[in-house]
Amino acid sequence: MTQSNLGLIGLAVMGSNLARNFASRGFRISVYNRTNSKTNEFIKNFSSSAKKQGGALVGASEYTEFIQSLERPRKIIIMVKAGSPVDGVIAELLPHLEPGDIVIDAGNSFYKDTERRFLELKAKGLHFVGMGVSGGEEGALNGSSIMLGGAPESWRELQPALEAIAAKDFSGEPCVTYVGPGGAGHYVKMVHNGIEYAVMQMMSEAYAFLKIAYNLKPPAIADIFEKFSQGKLNSFLFDIAVPVLRRPDDLTKKGFLIDKILDRAGSKGTGAWASKDALDRGISITSITEAVYARSISASKESRVALSKLYKNKLAPKKLPLPKFIPLLENALYAGMISCYAQGYDLIQKTATEEKWDLNLAEISRVWEGGCIIRAKLLNVLHKAYQTSGSKNSSLFAVPGIVSLMKKYVPDLRAVVGVVSASGVSTPALATALFYFQDATSKELSANFIQGLRDYFGAHTYERTDRPGNFHTNWIS
Ligand SMILES: NC(=O)c1ccc[n+]([C@@H]2O[C@H](COP(=O)([O-])OP(=O)(O)OC[C@H]3O[C@@H](n4cnc5c(N)ncnc54)[C@H](OP(=O)(O)O)[C@@H]3O)[C@@H](O)[C@H]2O)c1
Repeated sequence: MTQSNLGLIGLAVMGSNLARNFASRGFRISVYNRTNSKTNEFIKNFSSSAKKQGGALVGASEYTEFIQSLERPRKIIIMVKAGSPVDGVIAELLPHLEPGDIVIDAGNSFYKDTERRFLELKAKGLHFVGMGVSGGEEGALNGSSIMLGGAPESWRELQPALEAIAAKDFSGEPCVTYVGPGGAGHYVKMVHNGIEYAVMQMMSEAYAFLKIAYNLKPPAIADIFEKFSQGKLNSFLFDIAVPVLRRPDDLTKKGFLIDKILDRAGSKGTGAWASKDALDRGISITSITEAVYARSISASKESRVALSKLYKNKLAPKKLPLPKFIPLLENALYAGMISCYAQGYDLIQKTATEEKWDLNLAEISRVWEGGCIIRAKLLNVLHKAYQTSGSKNSSLFAVPGIVSLMKKYVPDLRAVVGVVSASGVSTPALATALFYFQDATSKELSANFIQGLRDYFGAHTYERTDRPGNFHTNWIS
């Protein structure tokens, strides 16, 4: 019997598209799904096209059959709901596996779960890989950005197959990289998702101001965003913002769909994971966390409606003429996004140091150039800036190519935050992007004042500017 190159468990949208992607690149892939009818349907729908593309899809209704169909060492991708289902699938697989086999969790697992699974399987002579996959269902089918965590030998074993299905970066190289051991791949994917939250929040703040202060209709905002996406803000998210804003409401046949969508944002929690982890590690990722908070407050629709009746907040737009404001906004978003990447990269670096991962921020920026949700021209700028500076891991604000950009665009970020805040429209992500930059690049902050208060009420001591040591003052005497 011809054996399959790979196995995949979980045929929901991500798993089925990933399996089709492998098959379209000539791989033979065995698939299994808990609910067997989905396997049968999948094989019925896609096996003949896979064959035409030079690959093969092989359905299995039981684990024994599935495992027997795989060449050794077995490479099994798990693409099921994150959390306990992943542990359940691993437990079911274990009796069938042999030392050297590689189990790959390609879902959005929390990196600490991945660390635990890595160690548990290592103790049994098995390899476990935590693989961050970004790009949604379209990326899974046509090319994702892939961040792999696990043992280097697992990476070497998987590299050819993953390079075949990954998206391409700006130079045509595959958007897949070995990030580091254990949970490193899922960690970097978690921070990617946090950055995604912040970028989307900044875009929504720009949308809100254009809508409220300038009274622009969705297609007019789409026109502005379309121009942005043809320039330095070129990105997948700005590209898709255009059809989202232009879409008429098919249901009522009146107006635009965006105006009918309830202003209550959902989330799957990965932004909050990044924020909690940053708090635990003492790293500031304010724009990412503000984006998480913005979704939380959006969820309180009923309360917001009730309170709005009490306060009747009047917006007093202090606006610039629109042609003057648009380039300022474009520059502000650009500086804000760089600041947001600086926050995410700072978190990645701190974690890499604490966990002893040898990460490379040029390489991480590179694999985000294609396939993933945050793919953008800016990622190529960050990749090249890190590469040119020769520094793998310095603060983004210290990288020479970025210093000149921030010097150029931060004044416009400051102007936009001022104008928008004065008008009564909230800009939590853009404002904190500015504040983060200001504080991270300030010689002096106001923390001396905090230390004075802490020493007064709690004898917490303070350090002095003019001599070493810890000091306490008897403030009452
Ligand atoms: N959707 C996206 O855009 C996206 C993007 C990146 C990453 N991800 C991640 O990729 C993974 C898969 O996402 P998805 O949206 O394709 O699917 P999903 O809705 O997260 O999960 C559904 C799949 O999980 C299986 N499953 C659920 N509980 C199970 C259990 N206890 N035992 C065995 N199988 C179980 C289901 O099998 P049955 O058919 O039997 O119910 C089905 O195949 C998730 O971790 C997700 O967070 C998703």
